Amino acid sequence: MKTKPIVGILGAGKLGTVLGRLAVNAGYTVLIAGSKTVDRIALTVDVLVPGAIPKTKTEVVLEAEIIFLCLPLSKMRSIPLIVDDNKVVIDAMNYWMEVDGLAKIPSDPNLTSSELVASVIQSSKIVKAFNHMGYHDIEFESHAPIRKVIAVASDDQEAKETVMTLIHDFGFDSLDLGDLKAGKILEPGSELFGANLTKEEFQNVITKLSA
Ligand SMILES: NC(=O)c1ccc[n+]([C@@H]2O[C@H](COP(=O)([O-])OP(=O)(O)OC[C@H]3O[C@@H](n4cnc5c(N)ncnc54)[C@H](OP(=O)(O)O)[C@@H]3O)[C@@H](O)[C@H]2O)c1
Repeated sequence: MKTKPIVGILGAGKLGTVLGRLAVNAGYTVLIAGSKTVDRIALTVDVLVPGAIPKTKTEVVLEAEIIFLCLPLSKMRSIPLIVDDNKVVIDAMNYWMEVDGLAKIPSDPNLTSSELVASVIQSSKIVKAFNHMGYHDIEFESHAPIRKVIAVASDDQEAKETVMTLIHDFGFDSLDLGDLKAGKILEPGSELFGANLTKEEFQNVITKLSA
């Protein structure tokens, strides 16, 4: 049987700890780092993501095969920049003014925040996913009897397929939106932001938006 890839999470906050729990429950080895030292997040990880291993950011980037970005978008430059090309990076970050400040990121309205992330982090395997659903809903909906959908966008097909497998393991359906730019509809301001929908319902909204 193929072993599951090691999952790394940068950002041990609301979203990072929920995704960490889902990954541990799905049988993944999970490494997690926050902004503080390993000692300072050990208790958080022990209580909120039992089974996960607290690490430094550099260790997560070096050791994990799938890396979730779950920190404020404005802190992305603190991510260890060189990510090995074999690794898949899931960008779950959003621009949120209250957290990220008034300097809107990105300033180009035609650019998705994940395209900006892809230009800062030297990785070709950036996948935009888990941006549109609130952390509490992600946890709740992962047990829903009728699966809800998590959509993915990336310029790398293989990376998208890896992430879609993980999404299924977390208890969701997946939907391939296309390239990274197509992930715009997962961002704040979109009708789909905050929506907890089945795959069919999600596709119907996309059809309506593009009509
Ligand atoms: N909350 C949601 O429902 C939700 C849903 C989808 C997407 N998102 C996006 O996910 C990201 C995280 O949101 P959140 O709600 O989880 O925020 P949060 O609860 O404030 O957690 C952010 C985490 O990132 C850590 N962090 C800050 N700077 C860091 C750095 N330089 N390196 C490593 N870790 C750092 C923080 O650590 P310290 O506490 O030590 O500073 C904190 O643990 C944001 O971009 C947000 O827009 C959130």
